[in-house]
Amino acid sequence: MYADRVLSGMRPTGSLHLGHYHGVLKNWIRLQHEYECLFFVADWHALTTHYDNPLSIHDSTWEMVIDWLAAGVDPAKATLFIQSEVIEHAELHLLLSMMTPLGWLERVPTYKDQQEKLTEKDLSTYGFLGYPLLQSADILIYRANQVPVGEDQVPHIEFAREIARRFNHLYGKEPGYEDKAQAAVKKLGGKKAKLYLELKTRYQQEGDASALDSAKAMLGETQNLSLGDKERLYGYLEGGGKMILTEPESLLTAASKMPGLDGQKMSKSYNNTISLREDAESVSKKIRTMPTDPARVRRTDPGEPGRCPVWQLHEVYSGDDVKSWVQQGCTTAGIGCIECKQPVIDAVLKELAPIQERAKAYTEDPDTVKNVIADGCEKARDLARETMRDVREAMGLYYG
Ligand code: TRP
Ligand code: SF4
Repeated sequence: MYADRVLSGMRPTGSLHLGHYHGVLKNWIRLQHEYECLFFVADWHALTTHYDNPLSIHDSTWEMVIDWLAAGVDPAKATLFIQSEVIEHAELHLLLSMMTPLGWLERVPTYKDQQEKLTEKDLSTYGFLGYPLLQSADILIYRANQVPVGEDQVPHIEFAREIARRFNHLYGKEPGYEDKAQAAVKKLGGKKAKLYLELKTRYQQEGDASALDSAKAMLGETQNLSLGDKERLYGYLEGGGKMILTEPESLLTAASKMPGLDGQKMSKSYNNTISLREDAESVSKKIRTMPTDPARVRRTDPGEPGRCPVWQLHEVYSGDDVKSWVQQGCTTAGIGCIECKQPVIDAVLKELAPIQERAKAYTEDPDTVKNVIADGCEKARDLARETMRDVREAMGLYYG
């Protein structure tokens, strides 16, 4: 068994570009070797802003899955699925909505930001306000503890933690909780029980986080406890109830801000992207026509790479030798801009070639793609149902 479970989702917003590849996918590809990973298409989240055109979401979903696979996300290593195919997310979202204070949702910074940005859409909807709660359900339903996201999503993960804590606090205390917890402590045996209580006190009264860690480590190694008792004791340590939902953490990676063709961050809304499936001619043309140092008007004018968007691409793609060739050649007007751009063009094409080859194979074989997703959805459903059993039980929702 893995110690950590990683989960992340992406909204299907059309074909992916180099910004997604460098900023997200390369990270997923690395993580899939290190952790149990679940990656999913957040098609319901896309609906919160594209409810007027749902069919485009359907097409983008398949295109995006092909791009994931082509980029190297490996279905033998990671579980790939589509959010709306695991209906349990909606059930958990509904149940969580009952205990979510409106103020918490209104305070999430993306709520007002996005409403102000996307003025052409009416986003004063129930679904849009609930976006972070649906995201919480996505995460909590798999008890994922690590969520790789960009900086902008950190408040959403923080929100999910608060929801998990509130849920555990409200519903994690079964009848007779205190007695059961104390009985479980006894089962640890004299020495361990004493240590457990000492560490618990040190954590609760002095806020000593290392005491909490040691107690958790001790429980992790304990063999003779039932799963229920173990969870009870984890919860008891922190003063709350039984841990039914796991508090997730954001897994922030050194944000690779892939520069776009104009030097701003690469993003569809800036119209400065190179898509993963862009053909060679278009890639070359886009880079050849990129703006350069504005002070370098004539070929004979020396330039300054620090003011040039092409240099930012060299920073991503070029080795030290090429980079010093650029520095030297640019500042002395020894090279022209077209010349300078060529190694970038070559490197991008070299990076895209194998991706495009795999994308072509998957495009020509849609059954394989469908099977990958069908398998992934089934695995995800099994995990989601396990959590929902506990959630329903904690809330008394069983009538069988
Ligand atoms: N909100 C995320 C984004 O815009 C997408 C997302 C939905 C997500 N559910 C998630 C990311 C759960 C991580 C975990 O990028
Ligand atoms: Fe930019 Fe290169 Fe031209 Fe210098 S030589 S301005 S770095 S494109």
